[in-house]
Amino acid sequence: MADIPLQSKVALTGGADFWHSQAVPEADLPQVMLTDGPHGVRKQSGATDHVGLNESVPATCFPPAVGLSSTWSRETLRKVGEALGEESKALGVGVLLGPGVNIKRSPLCGRNFEYFSEDPYVAGELATAYVEGVQSKGVGTSLKHYAANNQETDRMRRDSQVDERTLRELYLNAFHKVVTRAQPWTVMCSYNKVNGTFVSEDRFLLTQVLRDEWGFEGVVVSDWGAIHDRVAALRAGLDLEMPANPAHEAGVMAALESGGLDESVIDRAYGNVERVLRRAAATVADADGVFDVEGHHALARRAAEQCIVLLANDGVLPLASDTTVAVVGEFARTPRYQGAGSSRVQPTQLDNALDRIEAIVGHDVPFAPGFTTDPKNPVGDAAHDEAVEVAARADVVLVFLGLGENHESEGYDRTTADLPPEQLALLDDILAVNGNVVVVLSNGSSVLVPFRDRVRAVVEGWLLGQAGGPALADVLYGLVNPSGKLTETIPLRLEDVPSHLNFPGDETGVRYGEGLFVGYRGYDASAREVAYPFGYGLSYTSFDYSDLTVTADGNALTVVFTVTNSGPRAGREVAQAYVSIDRSRVVRVPRELKGFADVTLEPGASQQVTIEIPLWELAYWSVIDHQWVVESGTYTVAVGGSSRDLPLSGTVDVTGNEPARPLTLFSTLGEAMAVPAFASVMAGLAESFGGMPMDDPDMVRMVMDIPLATVAGFSGQSEAELQLLLDQVNRQAKV
Ligand code: BGC
Repeated sequence: MADIPLQSKVALTGGADFWHSQAVPEADLPQVMLTDGPHGVRKQSGATDHVGLNESVPATCFPPAVGLSSTWSRETLRKVGEALGEESKALGVGVLLGPGVNIKRSPLCGRNFEYFSEDPYVAGELATAYVEGVQSKGVGTSLKHYAANNQETDRMRRDSQVDERTLRELYLNAFHKVVTRAQPWTVMCSYNKVNGTFVSEDRFLLTQVLRDEWGFEGVVVSDWGAIHDRVAALRAGLDLEMPANPAHEAGVMAALESGGLDESVIDRAYGNVERVLRRAAATVADADGVFDVEGHHALARRAAEQCIVLLANDGVLPLASDTTVAVVGEFARTPRYQGAGSSRVQPTQLDNALDRIEAIVGHDVPFAPGFTTDPKNPVGDAAHDEAVEVAARADVVLVFLGLGENHESEGYDRTTADLPPEQLALLDDILAVNGNVVVVLSNGSSVLVPFRDRVRAVVEGWLLGQAGGPALADVLYGLVNPSGKLTETIPLRLEDVPSHLNFPGDETGVRYGEGLFVGYRGYDASAREVAYPFGYGLSYTSFDYSDLTVTADGNALTVVFTVTNSGPRAGREVAQAYVSIDRSRVVRVPRELKGFADVTLEPGASQQVTIEIPLWELAYWSVIDHQWVVESGTYTVAVGGSSRDLPLSGTVDVTGNEPARPLTLFSTLGEAMAVPAFASVMAGLAESFGGMPMDDPDMVRMVMDIPLATVAGFSGQSEAELQLLLDQVNRQAKV
């Protein structure tokens, strides 16, 4: 590095253009392409932009994260990651910008389709598999958007105001897991501020947490345009500004010359970028543009099949191929298959549900679009009326509803969780002429489903990528048994969403006022009814759970149980394990997902499932000790098919790692009593504490919360005297 001119080193801390890093001829390092991501390769060869406006070269459009997460399949995520790695390599892309692991704090976030879940455990597990898959092909990933970027409204400026424990347990948690387990080659810092500081300039997040605590070894890259002051950003721990702002580079040179910035900071950033991009450059050196187009399309379809969540079914599904059906809704013909914005991929092929339905039944089926997904070309009442007429003549009507690209997008949030009114009106009018309605949904984030009891089935199709249409048709006709489960709760009303009163904030920032109670954590804590709970999804078969055992050793809980396919068809079940502690010294949510496994079973078959839960997964973040703490106590592990269907439960005692805290004048009597060394001097103290009978448990309970200094004050004992005693106890307890 010593022989690289300073100017070249500085240049490498900013991109060459929109999608490329700088070349460093002195180091024999070529330019490297970094591009979106996450669910396909968006390689622009002409005009560039970061909001998905201009064309890119064809690449497989896999299901976006909202779909992939509903698979709950690490294996599927890994395979999709591998395919993405292969395509990136073939197309000369050294770093694929994804995955996004931000928590879905509200269904209104316009970018929820690009994120996995309201729960950090499932998000972290699945994103780890994705990153491992991509990187196994020698291509880098970019874990984004770090951190607390949970809305699109004012995303470039808004201050996410989130307390320390919530930040750690919810908003940093998935990042933590992916970094420590899979070492993504890059982490992308988000646009927003966290607790008053732009993340791009936040030393706590970029250096203390990411590097010092988690051991991140890669490059911190900015989100596109997230840097306001490259000197401050580099100092905080950023390595690469994308795309580069020339004025920022001049600013860095000036700061170096004036002594305001130490050259070692540049050496660190240069070293990180050079090391990571050299690996990427080696991978793409012989990119030939060739990848397995057919094979990846088939993989996209298999993945899409697992993403689909059957929300309701009175037995109308699966359809027999000789049922007379009508298909209504533009989405059946023109799939909504990915989200709007920077992740938009140009698919290699795009298949719809209508064609596949016709192929399954072997003839044309009546179809009416009913509405348009193109707001610029309204279709008017005639289309509505035609659809109702078509629906009236069928035995079963398949009504494809959903959100258009204009309803949800990167860059802005929704203001309602309802489906568009014209679609709801169409559904009402269809129901007036035909009660046999199956609703099929296409949406990137939860929508309200007030019609769910008036229709015979509801199929949640999320956004399913380029092969999602046929996957939906196959589920409707039972060629595929649905097995997806929700990774986000579908609420009854928007007002029920725990973050509702604090979303999306205002010019003073967005207060994460619901704290830990996000998603199912909040609904469960307030015992609120929901339309469909976290983890839920139906199947055409049924599964029974039995024979649970839960044991603990010094490292992990081992949860063993049996799943049996008790229904008529082969199927896949996603079994989930939720943990809670019986008594805690801190606020706890009722239960948290801490393990899951999927099993595929023939009818009548059983399989024993083992889930290991590392003890550190049980930890809470202590804001007193500023560290993860596993509390000693009795934990309950509940197992079943959704967060609200947990037929098995068992308890286990765990020895925790609570750090001993020294007693101070402000420790309470209760805290002091918990320290054995204090209890042993108790007898002598009872006198000085005003003669209180400290061996009377009721009395002790009453005075438990009184600080020692106050007790001393009541009894006329001097604080100095008490302090001496405490010093002695602390010495004895070695704290
Ligand atoms: C998005 C990132 C994306 C980048 C490059 C930004 O606007 O937030 O997710 O990777 O643009 O397109």
